[in-house]
Amino acid sequence: MTNIIDGKAISAQIKEEVKEKIEKLRQKGGKAALAVIQVGDDPASGVYVKNKKNACAYVGIASLSYELPKKTSEVELLELIDQLNRMEECNGILVQLPLPDHIDENKVIGAISPDKDVDGFHVQSAGALCTGQTGFIPCTPAGVIELLKRSGVEIEGKECVVVGRSNIVGKPMALLLLRENGTVTVAHSKTKNLKEICRRADILVVAIGKPKFINREYIKKGAVVIDVGIHRNEQNKLCGDVDFEDVKDLCDAITPVPGGVGPMTIAMLMQNCLQAAENAGLSDRKVLQS
Ligand code: GUN
Repeated sequence: MTNIIDGKAISAQIKEEVKEKIEKLRQKGGKAALAVIQVGDDPASGVYVKNKKNACAYVGIASLSYELPKKTSEVELLELIDQLNRMEECNGILVQLPLPDHIDENKVIGAISPDKDVDGFHVQSAGALCTGQTGFIPCTPAGVIELLKRSGVEIEGKECVVVGRSNIVGKPMALLLLRENGTVTVAHSKTKNLKEICRRADILVVAIGKPKFINREYIKKGAVVIDVGIHRNEQNKLCGDVDFEDVKDLCDAITPVPGGVGPMTIAMLMQNCLQAAENAGLSDRKVLQS
């Protein structure tokens, strides 16, 4: 029987754990606050931002909301980030992407203090992940690792294939699987023999951004398949990068869309915010002691 990995249930469990820890932090006089910045009124970004703020409210993290007009200049945005970097009561800063074309995303991400980089997108966070040092981990790939662990999937020694090489998902995903001692191949849209490479995978993580691209010809029997994609089809129904119905019976375990990886991103964001708040508390104590 195929195990359908329930990302909704696992993310709910993580949010409960974060909620408890936030309450403990509060009892010790600490608190957590996340600044959420949205520039422009892209409807999809609006939904993501609303969900992030709702999750904050649920777990007890204050959210500081900045909804800026599309015409906001890069300088204005950088000034806001500079203010938030220096604001003690703000532990995390999230700038919802994509940004309008006139703003350089790399410059904006690079302006966020790595201590508050709860998205894990800053080059310092990426470099820390790459070299095995401490830093924030991007939420979606961190969520995939959590899904695998909490579903009892062993990563060590497994053939892991990641399809996709974005900075947000594919690259950090590969590094995280490597950190867990998987044997990792990164494939992408230009890879030759993609089917053969995917058919080697014990664990296949797909983040290629093409609806239902992966069918049963890409799957080894008994594989664990993690689908990071999310799309709306012609009937306005959600689907992933994997053709779920076509591959399901071949897999040991598979994530559905919706209800798989999607809910994990926000749960891991909450975990990163908790971590940022705990770290800030630790550095306060260090200052007091010195
Ligand atoms: N846009 C799409 N995904 C993300 C994400 O994880 N974080 C931010 N900040 N923007 C996004």
